Amino acid sequence: MTTTEQYGRFIAGDYLDYQARYRRRLRENDRVLIDILRAHLGDGPARVLDVGCSTGNLLYHLRHAMPHLDLVGGDLYQPIIEHCTADPELAGITFRPMDITDLPVDDPYDAVVANIVLFRFDDEVFRAALHSIARALAPGGWFVAIDFYHEWDQDLVIRERSETHPDGLLIHVRPRETVREALRDAGFEDPRFQPFHMPIDLPRPTEPNDVSSHTRMMADGTRLCFRGSIHQPWCFVIARMPEMN
Ligand SMILES: C[S@@+](CC[C@H](N)C(=O)[O-])C[C@H]1O[C@@H](n2cnc3c(N)ncnc32)[C@H](O)[C@@H]1O
Repeated sequence: MTTTEQYGRFIAGDYLDYQARYRRRLRENDRVLIDILRAHLGDGPARVLDVGCSTGNLLYHLRHAMPHLDLVGGDLYQPIIEHCTADPELAGITFRPMDITDLPVDDPYDAVVANIVLFRFDDEVFRAALHSIARALAPGGWFVAIDFYHEWDQDLVIRERSETHPDGLLIHVRPRETVREALRDAGFEDPRFQPFHMPIDLPRPTEPNDVSSHTRMMADGTRLCFRGSIHQPWCFVIARMPEMN
């Protein structure tokens, strides 16, 4: 089964219901991401791509939070792009099918966002995606993403077989140092990491086949986020292309 077919099966399941819940209610990580974009792009006009945009929820909230932005959504999965293009609540946002490893370079972006996309990729595709994002950015443009990045020298690949992913979902949990090096190799400067701490309790699912995220409170008052038995070290990465001399 190709990756596109896998996404098709996945997105046809409970996934659309999951995303629908966050159309009106902003996810906490998206709230932080919008603050990061605001801090780095300021109030001027800017062109922003959300690649792996899925149902366009982040773009919906971005348009309300930063109405001066020129917003583009891209996804590998063509039916989700058609879904977004037909959605009246997303009018004014441009949607295009695109592959994060081969992004269009005709009209450079001031920022590219890729949320919860790169963890699926092996190292070769991960690096190809970073190079492609670098090529798609204007000089001085920003790359921002949330994914699984941790502080240990421990490169993890977890194969999850679950009800939602019966064929096996590969989850890459990467050391920040490896990612920093891959970003520099792609041409980015000063990559930095901003761990995301879930500020609310997510209830533990009652059924063992439900692996949606839940939190556990630590003794120091922070929450750890789990997908079933897997700890998810959510972390933002922020990196910039050099300004032109
Ligand atoms: C787990 S979803 C994340 C969706 C959304 N960004 C979010 O934060 O909820 C991953 C998305 O990335 C898309 N995707 C996977 N591989 C891709 C690729 N090579 N290029 C562009 N999009 C891709 C999938 O179709 C899916 O919509």
